Amino acid sequence: MTPIRGRLVALEGIDGCGKSTQAHRLVAALIELGHGAVTFREPGDSEFGRELRRVFVEGRDITPEEEMRLFLEDRRIDVRDNIEPALAAGQHVVMDRYYLSSVAYQGVLGLDPQMVRATNEAIAPRPDLTIILDLPVDIALRRIAAARGQANSFEGREYLEKVRKSYLGFASEKDIETVDATEHPDDVHRALLVLAQRLLGADADQVRR
Ligand code: TYD
Repeated sequence: MTPIRGRLVALEGIDGCGKSTQAHRLVAALIELGHGAVTFREPGDSEFGRELRRVFVEGRDITPEEEMRLFLEDRRIDVRDNIEPALAAGQHVVMDRYYLSSVAYQGVLGLDPQMVRATNEAIAPRPDLTIILDLPVDIALRRIAAARGQANSFEGREYLEKVRKSYLGFASEKDIETVDATEHPDDVHRALLVLAQRLLGADADQVRR
């Protein structure tokens, strides 16, 4: 029997908002509840993702177009090798960043957000649910500094202010939710789990009907 396709949930937000921790906690909680679930992060481990990480660490300058191209190629591979096979096998996939990151970050660098979105939606399945972990940039930068001493070139204050604003511009879309990431991590986790269970519960209702 072909498994019922899994659901795709994307966690988004500025650097330091706690996405990675929350992605892992959400997957662990879903597994505990008896679901198949897995998380992938972007940029990933393809040659393009590795190149991007090198660029961030070295603080090298590349054009916004080149940056977008590297993220897009990395994502194309992530969709082919990780995301689609997991969904097809019936696993729920929790993305630690997905294409809204490109729309927000590369959009702020001057690329047309609608173009970035359309280019990405041509190669990557649309999430069933996107959750933006929102918090003020000051708090995010303090968390980053506490975690590893300093911020990298992606993490300038003004840049992140604009990225945050860009994310919040999507908050009114029907499959996009915003969660207050200034709350205690346990509370953020509970909020994410409620949203995920609402999505999966809606699936269960459909199967029963
Ligand atoms: P991330 O892996 O979240 O950072 P960290 O190394 O701290 O875990 O992402 C690295 C940076 O890449 C982050 O500043 C956001 C940026 N980014 C984009 O600009 N566009 C994209 O499409 C993605 C996925 C990330």
